[in-house]
Formats: sequence, structure tokens, C-alpha cells
Amino acid sequence: MQQRVRTAVFPVAGLGTRFLPATKAMPKEMLTVVDRPLIQYAVDEAREAGIEHFVFVTGRNKGVIEDHFDRQYELEHTLQSRGKLDVLEELWRDLPIAGQTSFTRQQEPLGLGHAVWCARELVGNQPFALLLPDMVFRARPGVLRQMMDAYDETGGNVIGVEEVDPKEVSSYGIVGRGTGADGAFAITSMVEKPRPEDAPSNLFISGRYILQPEIFGILNSQTRGAGGEIQLTDAMQTLIRSQPFTGVKYQGKVYDCGSKLGFLTANVAFALDRDDLAEDFRSEILRILNKTVG
Ligand code: UTP
Repeated sequence: MQQRVRTAVFPVAGLGTRFLPATKAMPKEMLTVVDRPLIQYAVDEAREAGIEHFVFVTGRNKGVIEDHFDRQYELEHTLQSRGKLDVLEELWRDLPIAGQTSFTRQQEPLGLGHAVWCARELVGNQPFALLLPDMVFRARPGVLRQMMDAYDETGGNVIGVEEVDPKEVSSYGIVGRGTGADGAFAITSMVEKPRPEDAPSNLFISGRYILQPEIFGILNSQTRGAGGEIQLTDAMQTLIRSQPFTGVKYQGKVYDCGSKLGFLTANVAFALDRDDLAEDFRSEILRILNKTVG
């Protein structure tokens, strides 16, 4: 029996420089895909996977994320008095239960590995999930749920992976694939941004992890990697020498909403999934495309 994963960490302290000026005063994680902020998708996915403690590693200008997961009494009163009870109920459904959220600060954006390390006291000595909120998935069940199913069998560390065009491996963290089926296979190595000829596969790490607490001890050394940042992949490369890592090639597709192209594509894909929008939205897109082409 594996130790249950109850806690999830959401690093939200990055600067989001690829989205300036939108992210000058507003956190990247509050950008919306259709009408839900990126961070809400990640929290929903974690909750679906059974997470009960939501740890946010925030930075400057991120107070609005804390507010997003709080009650807004004035708004609730107005919705109530206008009879918009369905909207009100949806807002309540989105909220974690009182006492389930914790916030800590990464005072300087020194990299993803450093952001994870900042959560060490709140996580403690237990396995935890890590979700990068700018990676949004169309997947049923959710990607973390699929990974938890693998974790229940294998324990150890688990990483969600997806196929990428072999020509594009140099933009991603890539894993080496050992024995096992798509749903749970042994990871033999990890390489950050390899040249196509050096890549051990075309399976990239897409922003969902289940990690053992020993990762914190490795991150303690604060070793700087690529770009002068404290890199999570470097710490995982050390951990894999002493602990198993399992890859889950999940059913679903990721949209990298930290990039403009991924963000715009996600908005189109998610809008076309919505019963209340799909038909009209499709006509509008076709109208634009026809004008551009014709
Ligand atoms: P990214 O590298 O995509 O985010 O980190 P970024 O640095 O904010 O974006 P750009 O490249 O400047 O546009 C992935 C996730 O890790 C968090 C980010 O907030 C994002 O959710 N992160 C990154 C931190 O919390 N701290 C860091 O030091 C770096």
C-alpha cells in the first residue's frame, strides 16, 4: 500500500514575461481559458484526483490568486438579490473547503526547483503532487487522476508525459522510456532540452508530477542550472539514481498556456467544447478564416 498523496503544490510565482504587458500587474495564472482562470483548471484537476491540501507558492502581485479562492460577500449578495443562484452555486463549487489552502512566498523567481523547495515546510515528509498551472489539459479523467492510478500500483515518483514532434524535443524536458505499458512505464533518464539526435525519446514532461519528499533534500543545495535558475529537472535527475520514476503517457492533450500560441489554441479548443458557445463560435471562426483566405 502506497502512502496516499493528499497535498498538491501549485507554483505561481513566475514573472510570465512571455505575456507582458498582460502580466505586468496581473498574474499569468489568472489569464482565462474561455471564462475560467488557468489556476482554477489546475485546482479542479487536483481535487478530482483526491487532493485535500492545496499549497500555492506565490510571489509579488499574486494576491489576487488568494482572493480568487476566497468568498466574495458583496458579489454573492448581488448575485443572490438578482436571482442568479446557478452562477452563485458554481462559484461555491469552485472553492476549496475552508482550511484546505496554504500560501507561501517565493521572494525571488529563482526557478521552478526553487519554487518547489519553498513549499517544503508546508508539504512536510510525505509524497505530493506538483501541477504547473499554465499547462492546461483536455483529458477525461484528468491527468493527475490517471497518474494517481499508476502511483497506487507503483509508488515512487510519477511523471505525466505526452508525445511531441521529434523535431521539437529541444524545447522540452524529455524522458527515456524503459519497460512497461503507456499507463505506467519505467523512466530510465531525463534530459532537459536535448538536441533531436541526443533525445532518448519524443516523450516530454508536460507539467504534472507526483514526487517523494526526498526531492526537497536535493533542492536544499540550491544548485543553479540552465539559465542560472534552480531547475527541478536537475534535482529529479539526482533523485532517479536512488528512487524509481514511472512515466504515464496519459490519455489527453496539453495546451501550454504560458505561450501565446498554446493559450490561443486552448481558448479555441475549450470554447468549441462548450455547449453554450460551440455553434456560434464555430461560425465566427469560419467567417474570419474565409475572409483571411478569400
Ligand atoms: P514558466 O517558466 O513557464 O513561467 O514556469 P514564467 O517564468 O512565469 O514565464 P515566462 O517564461 O517568463 O513567460 C512554469 C510555472 O512555474 C512557476 C510559474 O509561475 C509557472 O506557473 N514558477 C517559475 C515559479 O513559481 N517560480 C519561478 O521561479 C519560476
